[in-house]
Amino acid sequence: MRLNPKPLIDAATLSIRIRELGAALSRTYGGKHPLLLVTLKGALYFAADLSRAITTPHQVDFIRARSYAGDQSTGRVEITHRPEISLRDRHVLILEDIYDTGQTLAAILDMVGEEGVASVAVCALLVKDVARVSAVDVAYKGFEIPNHFVVGYGLDYNEGYRELPEIRILESETLA
Ligand code: XMP
Ligand code: MG
Repeated sequence: MRLNPKPLIDAATLSIRIRELGAALSRTYGGKHPLLLVTLKGALYFAADLSRAITTPHQVDFIRARSYAGDQSTGRVEITHRPEISLRDRHVLILEDIYDTGQTLAAILDMVGEEGVASVAVCALLVKDVARVSAVDVAYKGFEIPNHFVVGYGLDYNEGYRELPEIRILESETLA
């Protein structure tokens, strides 16, 4: 695998868009004391920045769903960490790093839907241009991107590259 040297989305562009999302969410959720449900680990960096761009008081908790080994979806989604704060009667906003086939978000929405929430919505930093296996409603979208495997700003390849401050494309090496 080879890291494309040119960022797909640079740090300044990420920051501007996240401030816009924060302003929109502050209006929608003003006074509702929403619970931001962060999907580990990919959405961690996005969530840290977005939370600080939301000006209405809110709480943060975490959920972990695993569906990927390497760069291929296994098609199976397992919830391996559940939120500690009760979701009952809460306005829940799920923060996801990337909406790809939709299987992860569908599994998370199923779990959240069983908890008696006041409302649930999804905010995804990246939305891949692919055919979905499970279509879910993503109310807040950061960026639409072409169908490439991307890393950085929290997104990993086998736990590497999360720390990159921008989104970069990871390409397969072509044999000469
Ligand atoms: P699905 O297919 O369930 O995938 O919508 C969502 C989860 O799969 C991971 N994923 C990626 N991770 N670069 C990554 O680093 C990618 O291009 C990519 N596409 C999907 C990610 O964990 C996401 O939550
Ligand atoms: Mg991952």
